[in-house]
Amino acid sequence: MMSSAELSDQELVYLDWNNALEVLEKAYKAGLFVLIIGPKGTGKTTLVRKFASTMNKDLHSVNFSLRTRESHLVGTKTVEHGQISFVEGVLVKSMRSGSMLYLDELNAAEADVLLRLDEALDDRRQLVLKEAEGQTIKATADWFVIATINPLSHVGTKELPPQLLSRFPVRMRLEYPPEELELEIVKRHVKLDESKIRSIKHAIQLARNLREAAAVEELYYSPSLRETIAYAKMLNAGLSARHAAEVVYANAYDQWGQVEYQKVMDMITSIFGDK
Ligand SMILES: Nc1ncnc2c1ncn2[C@@H]1O[C@H](COP(=O)(O)OP(=O)(O)OP(=O)(O)O)[C@@H](O)[C@H]1O
Ligand SMILES: [Mg+2]
Repeated sequence: MMSSAELSDQELVYLDWNNALEVLEKAYKAGLFVLIIGPKGTGKTTLVRKFASTMNKDLHSVNFSLRTRESHLVGTKTVEHGQISFVEGVLVKSMRSGSMLYLDELNAAEADVLLRLDEALDDRRQLVLKEAEGQTIKATADWFVIATINPLSHVGTKELPPQLLSRFPVRMRLEYPPEELELEIVKRHVKLDESKIRSIKHAIQLARNLREAAAVEELYYSPSLRETIAYAKMLNAGLSARHAAEVVYANAYDQWGQVEYQKVMDMITSIFGDK
């Protein structure tokens, strides 16, 4: 669990470039759960943390790509010194305390886990614990749930069952920001002097070209805001503009072979010039 006081600077630098916080706040006040859909590194997690801290709510997080089990979510029975007790899972803790529950990469959840969520998230907002003698857990009135999913185009993603989708009637799309705003976001993370701005703009241009190529399946990988931020840090650490582009962008494509890698190196040459 994370309380607002423990949030790092990282979360507080969130730039709300498309008024996502306003939509979240309205959904929260209306008691409607929210689904955020967006490719990796578009700021989903950062947005949720920022929102929790803005609303002064505790945050419980679960990431389903980490093969979260039902026992982690709901809880487990334990026996200690002959005493049987029930250790509450994240979902139960969150419902009871009325915290904000963040279900990250929900479309990666296993079927048994989805079933329990389905029950807890329906309009009654309650859960019957078969693990604890059928005890019923009822969520507090201010309990709030936000889930994220990556778009289906991503390799290995499953679709969210319609049943569960309907539990999140407010849906937000998060995309990569426009160029000028991507630069503003980088500036919030990395202190940059004027001489570096031109190179960062080039890196953003490269990242956009790579994202476009990945969107039409000309390349396998689409760089996110993480790469742009890393690029700025490598520049600050003293790497040349072109060299930083090679280590942050091009080299990753080598895992799909020489042709893929060369395509990206050519893009780098056209943007940054020769070595
Ligand atoms: N609007 C923004 N303002 C400030 N920083 C941002 C913003 N969007 C993204 N970032 C930064 O970009 C990086 C990636 O963001 P984040 O981890 O929130 O993305 P994500 O969508 O949750 O990614 P994933 O799908 O891989 O979990 C972080 O360093 C984050 O702080
Ligand atoms: Mg995330």
